[in-house]
Amino acid sequence: MCGIIGYLGYREAYPILINGLKKLEYRGYDSSGIAIFYKNGYSLYKTKGKVDELEKKISSISFHNRKIIGTTGIGHTRWATHGVPNDLNAHPHVSNSNELIMIHNGIIENYHAIKIILLENGFTFKSKTDTEVLVNLIEYVKKENKISLEEAVRISLNEIIGAYSIAIVDKSHPETIIIAKLGSPLALGINEKEFFIASDPIPFINYTKNALYLKDGEMAILKKNKELDLRKIRDNHKLNPIINKLKINLKEIEKGKYRYFMLKEIYEQPKTISDTLRGRLIISNKIICIDGIELNKEIFINAKCITIVGCGSSWHAGLIGEYLLEQLARIPVEVEYASEFRYRNPIIDKNDLIIVISQSGETADTLAALKLAKKKEAFVFGICNIVGSSIARSVDAGIYTHAGPEISVASTKSFTAQITVLILLALKLAKYRSTMSEERYQFLFQELGNVPNKINDLLKIDKHVVKNISKVFYKFNNFLYLGRGINFPIALEGALKLKEISYIHSEGYPAAEMKHGPIALVDKNMPVVIIATKRGYYEKIIGNIQEIKARKGKIIAIVNEGDVQVSMMADYVIKIPEISEELSPLLTIIPLQLLAYQIAYIKGKNIDQPRNLAKSVTVE
Ligand code: M6R
Repeated sequence: MCGIIGYLGYREAYPILINGLKKLEYRGYDSSGIAIFYKNGYSLYKTKGKVDELEKKISSISFHNRKIIGTTGIGHTRWATHGVPNDLNAHPHVSNSNELIMIHNGIIENYHAIKIILLENGFTFKSKTDTEVLVNLIEYVKKENKISLEEAVRISLNEIIGAYSIAIVDKSHPETIIIAKLGSPLALGINEKEFFIASDPIPFINYTKNALYLKDGEMAILKKNKELDLRKIRDNHKLNPIINKLKINLKEIEKGKYRYFMLKEIYEQPKTISDTLRGRLIISNKIICIDGIELNKEIFINAKCITIVGCGSSWHAGLIGEYLLEQLARIPVEVEYASEFRYRNPIIDKNDLIIVISQSGETADTLAALKLAKKKEAFVFGICNIVGSSIARSVDAGIYTHAGPEISVASTKSFTAQITVLILLALKLAKYRSTMSEERYQFLFQELGNVPNKINDLLKIDKHVVKNISKVFYKFNNFLYLGRGINFPIALEGALKLKEISYIHSEGYPAAEMKHGPIALVDKNMPVVIIATKRGYYEKIIGNIQEIKARKGKIIAIVNEGDVQVSMMADYVIKIPEISEELSPLLTIIPLQLLAYQIAYIKGKNIDQPRNLAKSVTVE
């Protein structure tokens, strides 16, 4: 993962870098560092911990130190892969001669073999990182061949197996930064006399709207007051840069009145679901428009089966997609973890339809699964949130979820936006394939348009109920989440939310599966969150609740308004509006998101940046 940043121009680099790193912390936050260059020298600051720690360290050391002043600089916020989070392993890394300084996001898979060659040639290493190996390889190639830095970077990168986005500076030439990309994201902001480098454009959106997304296998030589020089790493072929105009609303990336982004993002869901539906659910003539499907209608109509691939919450959305596509459109669906799919030589060929789901569009395993499917000539359809992301650019067709930037590591609004897209997809395919009655189609169509209002109501009522339940349960060490049918993936997602932000062990299970093992864990110390809405196997769920009560488990039930039976049995109830089973995950997940948030809040956790995690998992 990791976030990288750089600046080359006429402004002071330091504030741009430090503020930019704060915006990139969602990519990793276990250590960070900055190098600022001046004539024939540089200042380097690195520290374990978050960017705030780095800022404190720099202001304590160099408050009146002119050396923090410079108009070229690079910075990095790390999510550790090789080597523990500490000052030594933090980036930037410096070559043995102290001439080359580099930042890197990605993994150099053959770093060990290269390190051995470098050790044999007298190189030494201070850190445990693969990055220090790469910067020294570049130095070795440069010196051995007496070539320019750009040529040394190009030759070295051609020897690398793995993924990278890098920025490197020669301290004797601070008017130049060289950047390159393969696998990890890299955006370049461009103004007349300045360049901004970052893992995504948000750090430089205040300065420029002109951005270039480097493609895999490209490098750029950035020189002060010179035009961008874009090349192919493989053969040095000169390329024409394609500049995009960024359309990001700054309000979307600010917390506003909320203490944490996660809470803001939970409360945004009525709006984000409306945004996902806009231009697709056409109320006036009751049709669903999805260009990516209409243009490839035959592929979708004739699909014998669909494989959905994703990770984490996106995988959970895929499980809901399986239920919807099978129930409504009667197409068999398999759902796969991207990390498993790609490594087991899956049986796919050119008539197959693969759907990849990813909020970030950068998840390494999902991207690799997509590439594998394309290599086998399958048709790949993407569901992504980030416009222009690697996955969005690589699929044959797709649909954006339009949930807006999601900053908190825990997915909330992007998850409900993915489900909304999957409902649209299932309804559209059901219509194409005539697998559901017109009456039912019209009913669900109408109800889907009304979901944002229902979530609005739910958010108003639930706040206090969930707060009170959280106060009772925040000290418990384990939670069980149960659901059936389309709400089983919601049990998984609810458990994931709780564990990732509050560090409480929690597991999701299909409710009926409980008696095949997990029931052994149930006693008075086991809170069981159970989704018990009227439209989803209500009677069966009541049986499951009886079984838990008989073993003194504490029941927190998600029920429909007006529910009587479960409400009398449960210790605590959270009520949601009535809704058809197919659409119910859009409501049942909301109280579970709030429950995880409130418990983590009472426990005083850093909700937006939970330990060991990063928003976009760009390592395999
Ligand atoms: O960006 P993606 O949707 O591909 O990310 C997949 C997972 O890393 C992500 O959903 C993760 O599980 C979230 N932290 C869950 O809240």
